[in-house]
Amino acid sequence: MPRIYLDYNATTPIDPSVLEEVVNTLKNYQGNPSSVYEEGRSARILIEDSRDFIKSFLDAGNSGEIIFTSSGSESVNLAIIGSVYAYMRNNKKIVPHIITSTVEHHAVLNTFKFLESIGVETTYIGVNEFGAINTEDIVTAIKENTVLVSIMGANNETGTIFPLKQIFEEVKKVKNDLLFHSDLVQVIGKSYFSLKDIPLDLCSFSGHKFYALKGCGALYVKKGVDIDPIIHGGHQERGLRAGTENIGGIVSMAKSLNIFKNVMNEEIGRIGTLGGIFLDKLFYGIEGIKLNGHPVNRLKNTINVSFDGVKSETLLFNLDLYGISASAGSACNAGAVSLSHVLKAHGYDVKRIESAIRFSIGRFTTEDDIDYAVSAIKKGVLKLRTNPA
Ligand SMILES: Cc1ncc(COP(=O)(O)O)c(C=O)c1O
Repeated sequence: MPRIYLDYNATTPIDPSVLEEVVNTLKNYQGNPSSVYEEGRSARILIEDSRDFIKSFLDAGNSGEIIFTSSGSESVNLAIIGSVYAYMRNNKKIVPHIITSTVEHHAVLNTFKFLESIGVETTYIGVNEFGAINTEDIVTAIKENTVLVSIMGANNETGTIFPLKQIFEEVKKVKNDLLFHSDLVQVIGKSYFSLKDIPLDLCSFSGHKFYALKGCGALYVKKGVDIDPIIHGGHQERGLRAGTENIGGIVSMAKSLNIFKNVMNEEIGRIGTLGGIFLDKLFYGIEGIKLNGHPVNRLKNTINVSFDGVKSETLLFNLDLYGISASAGSACNAGAVSLSHVLKAHGYDVKRIESAIRFSIGRFTTEDDIDYAVSAIKKGVLKLRTNPA
């Protein structure tokens, strides 16, 4: 029985060319990049070349710097906590205020909760039933003491895309000196994005979402943006992130983005078409099904659907037996039985949330995979509707 992997938003398989590059790097560059002798210097050059490439991939020019981290989560923590700590250091008597949306990944939401626990003021902006956010709601939440706005580019559970450019511009019109961070973990390396187009102050991304290694990520920091480190020690990463660099992870991200740069148009088109076919086949093939999230402004690789009368946990179990990997809610919370906070924020009823499954496709998904998956999903849904577990 084939295994059909439909969980690209949880993590992507490593691209074989990336793996090859990583193996060569790990074999040939074993020095500590901070050492001054040859082994260290050559490792340092590789890291700086990777940094330069990633900057050029993002159209950053000389506008800022890339700080390598251990994950998307660490990047988000560094952006948010680092901004707030720097503000607190410079404005000892003012309580900082930060704004985000209710549908962010837990990397953002739990960082907000942590800061709340040490007295920082927070505002969470809600979404409508399609997961759309009202820019005006963000703008009106801005106060004198607002330090940072953090709004994601695209949602990991539903694929809903926020109008980031518009939000960024409107927010900056109201308060130019606040910092704007975006969690672009589901965008960078999979969709079009340019810092020339949206000159964010800070943005986060993660290697394992774009065919690079797990356990590596990065934060873009615009020149002049004052953030404090959250990991203290050596002076690596421009003094913003102590710790000997993960050279394999760093190289994997640069290599992966380089591959994506060369196939971008073709890949985005192909996955978009395939996502459309998948959605059509599901909706024409199975009754009692609802699309969760935005019907139009969404990542075409992400299909989050609820099947009437079917519990997602049971369907996922059955799909796994048919060889299909997908997830309910966010896979980063695997094991937790709590309802998806993202779908709750849409105002959906419990039954709809309990029956929601996210399928997400990517580079190695084929139309045959989709056909196999749809027929297995159909079988699974019919079986559970006739004979609920
Ligand atoms: C939108 C979003 N932000 C942040 C993260 C966390 O990234 P990482 O797994 O690299 O820590 C994820 C992972 O699922 C994500 O989807």
